[in-house]
Amino acid sequence: MSQPQIKPVTGARYARIHGVGGYRPVRVIPNSEVLNWIDSSDEWIRSRSGIAERRWAGPEESVAEMSVQAAGKAIAQAGISPDQIGGVIVATVSHLKQTPAIATEIAERLGCGTAPAFDISAACAGFGYGLSLADGMIRGGSAGYVLVIGVERLSDLTDRSDRSTAFIFGDGAGAAIVGPSDTPGIGKVVWGSDGSQKDVISQTQAWDTAFGKEDAVNGLGEAHDDGRGKWPALRMEGQSVFRWAVWEMAKVAQQALDAAGITADQLGAFIPHQANMRITDAMIKALKLPESVPVARDITETGNTSAASIPLAMERMLESGEARSGDLALIIGFGAGLVYAAAVVTLP
Ligand SMILES: CC(C)(COP(=O)(O)OP(=O)(O)OC[C@H]1O[C@@H](n2cnc3c(N)ncnc32)[C@H](O)[C@@H]1OP(=O)(O)O)[C@@H](O)C(=O)NCCC(=O)NCCS
Repeated sequence: MSQPQIKPVTGARYARIHGVGGYRPVRVIPNSEVLNWIDSSDEWIRSRSGIAERRWAGPEESVAEMSVQAAGKAIAQAGISPDQIGGVIVATVSHLKQTPAIATEIAERLGCGTAPAFDISAACAGFGYGLSLADGMIRGGSAGYVLVIGVERLSDLTDRSDRSTAFIFGDGAGAAIVGPSDTPGIGKVVWGSDGSQKDVISQTQAWDTAFGKEDAVNGLGEAHDDGRGKWPALRMEGQSVFRWAVWEMAKVAQQALDAAGITADQLGAFIPHQANMRITDAMIKALKLPESVPVARDITETGNTSAASIPLAMERMLESGEARSGDLALIIGFGAGLVYAAAVVTLP
């Protein structure tokens, strides 16, 4: 008897982004407020990072709540119903519960039925990582539509006394619906990692060392209010990150263009992770991006929102008319890990 064959799975030929949506917290933190915590100046922060203000989430603006709001907009723009979503991927480094993933709660609140739902930890490259997975799921036939969310409450992990990070981070959520397409809408995602630089952006302490290893080992689960631990925050070797981003990431962005068979002058938008305006400007130079290509500069009002920054910036460019539906955009995310992901996509 011949070996039985597994029935082949067929997915969509191509995938694209069908809708994008964002959520920005209500509370605006201007640079003047940051100056209450660190010795700095509005001028220094603006000239070194491009940031004028950022948004910080209030108690009601949880990771789940911001995600649901952003996803609702993306779903509406895509013109689908939540029960058509066959996968929910949430990229975040600031959902403070190790388990369960926040994605299942979000999927349930949105009405995505039994869609598989999981979190990924890829910092500022998280949206690109999610997009790559979604693209593969759709073309591989394991999902029809996939919701990719980038969401952060980095204010929870910001040490307000740290001069090198207190002014940088912001909160927010961005979401995209990825689904089938007749033509290629997501170019090859050029993604990767460099674990040799794992320490240049990282949480100061693991949760166990922050709160007492014995508690973790013994699984005591007690309230850890004995004053031993210091709440972990994000630390960054700013100059190392800066150098890496400028030198290495321009090459990755170029690889994404080449893989898509697109030249810089054919782009309708450049939407880099909103890490620092000077990094963006250096990349523009390295890529020899023509002045006619609009560049996302959402960092000025939003700060660095890690996984949320690309979809938030994308939404803003489309809403403001700087970029149009159907345009080609080069996106690139990079951050803690270190990790990166770049691709050319068709804007929804
Ligand atoms: C963080 C960052 C803005 C700091 O800028 P920088 O030019 O590298 O600053 P440095 O740490 O070299 O410090 C330069 C000077 O500014 C001072 N300085 C540092 N932080 C300051 C602050 N918040 N306000 C005012 N002065 C500050 C330093 O004391 C130093 O002074 P000195 O020259 O008298 O010694 C920059 O390194 C950066 O943006 N890196 C990339 C970070 C990033 O994008 N991270 C996210 C990746 S996902």
